[in-house]
Amino acid sequence: MARLNLFYLFVTLLLSISLKPCYGLPEKTTSALFIFGDSTAHPGNNNYINTTAGMRADWKPYGQNGFFEAPTGRFSDGRVFVDFIAEYAKLPLIPPFYQPSADLTNGVNFASGGAGVLPQTNQGLVVDLQTQLRSFEEVQKSLTENLGEAEAKALLSEAVYFISVGSNDYVAGYLGNPKMQEYFVPEVYVEMVIGNLTNAIQVLYEKGARKFGFLSMCPLGCMPLMRARNPKSSEGGCFEAASGLALAHNNALNAVLTSLGQLLKGFKYCNSEFYTWLYDRINNPASYGFKEGVNACCGTGPYGGVSSCGGKRKPVEFQLCDNADDYIWWDSGHPTERIHEQIAKTLWKDGPSVGPYKLEDLFFDKEKLTIADILDAPDEEHFQY
Ligand SMILES: *[C@@H]1O[C@H](CO)[C@@H](O)[C@H](O)[C@H]1NC(C)=O
Ligand SMILES: *[C@@H]1O[C@H](CO)[C@@H](O)[C@H](O)[C@H]1NC(C)=O
Repeated sequence: MARLNLFYLFVTLLLSISLKPCYGLPEKTTSALFIFGDSTAHPGNNNYINTTAGMRADWKPYGQNGFFEAPTGRFSDGRVFVDFIAEYAKLPLIPPFYQPSADLTNGVNFASGGAGVLPQTNQGLVVDLQTQLRSFEEVQKSLTENLGEAEAKALLSEAVYFISVGSNDYVAGYLGNPKMQEYFVPEVYVEMVIGNLTNAIQVLYEKGARKFGFLSMCPLGCMPLMRARNPKSSEGGCFEAASGLALAHNNALNAVLTSLGQLLKGFKYCNSEFYTWLYDRINNPASYGFKEGVNACCGTGPYGGVSSCGGKRKPVEFQLCDNADDYIWWDSGHPTERIHEQIAKTLWKDGPSVGPYKLEDLFFDKEKLTIADILDAPDEEHFQY
C-alpha cells in the first residue's frame, strides 16, 4: 500500500513539474469539475433524453443573450453559474454527459433539468441524482482506461464536485404531489431528501472525491411560479410553505456538512447562504443593479409564473421583457444569467456568506490537498479520534 501511495505521490509531483510554465504557457494548477444536479446547473443533458417540453429549454428566447450561438438547453438567458465557475477555474465549458464524444478530462456535467435527489421526483422525465452517480462511475472507468489508474485517481481526487439539487424534490415532488404530503410530514420528507443527498456525497467520497461545492436552496416560495401558486396570493407574497421547506433543508444540510467535515478525512467543501443571498436581492433589487425582483422576464400570468417561456409548452402565448439584465428571474422558476454570474462570483471569492472554503481555494490550492490526501497514511489515522 505504501509503495502504491508513493507512486501516486510521484506521479502527482511529476505531473505538477511537467505542467510548470514553459515557453509562456500558463501553469495548470486548476482541478477538473464534475457537476451533479438540476436545472440550476443544466447544460443540456435533457436534449438527449426522452422527456417532455416541461423539462427542456433548447429553444429561443432561452440563450438569447448571444453567449451561445444557439439555445443549448440551459434554463437561462445565457450561462448558468457552473459555466462561470469553469471560467474562473480556467477550464473550458464543462460538457454535458450525454453529449456524444465529449472530452472528459476537464470534468463532466451530469445535471438534468427537473431532477431531484429522490428518484420519485419527476420520475421518468429526468435523470435523477442516483442515475447521475452511476454515469459518473462510467466516466471513472473510461478515465482509468484512457489515463491509467494512477493518473485517473489523481485527477479524481483533485477534482471539485459541485452538487446543486433539491428544489424539484420540494416544489414538484412534495408540494406538487398531494400523495407525498399525505404520506410524509414536511420534517420527515426533508430528512429523506437530506438522507439520500448525504448518501450521494459519501458515494462520491468513497470513489475518491474530496473537494465539494454546494448550492443550497433559494427562497423557493419567492420563485414567480410559487408566488402564483400561493394560496394567499392576494397578499402578493412568497409561498411560505415552500420557503419553509427550503430553510429546513438548508439547516439540515449545514449540519450534515459540518459532521462530514469532522468524520471524513480530507473532506473539504464550499457552501453558501444562498437563501438569504437571493432573498436580499429579491427584496432590494436596486442595491444590486436590478430593477425587478418579483416578476419573471419571460412567461405568462401573474408574476410571469406560468412556465410558458418560448411557446413550446402550454399555453403557447408568453411575454418577454425588454432587458433581462434588469431582472432577477428569467422565467417562472429560474434566475437570469446576471444572477448566475453574481452567485458564481460569491462562491468563488466572497467571505462571510461562503464557507468554510471558497471555491477558488478548492481549485487552486492543489498541492496542499493532494499530497496530504492521496497518502492515506495509516499511522495518522488515530489523530482523527
Ligand atoms: C423514447 O420514447 C419513445 C416513445 O415512448 C420510445 O419509443 C423510445 O424507445 C424511447 N427512447 C428511449 C431512448 O428511451
Ligand atoms: C432515500 O429516499 C427513499 C425514497 O426514495 C427513502 O425510502 C429512504 O429512506 C431515503 N434514505 C435515507 C437514508 O434517508
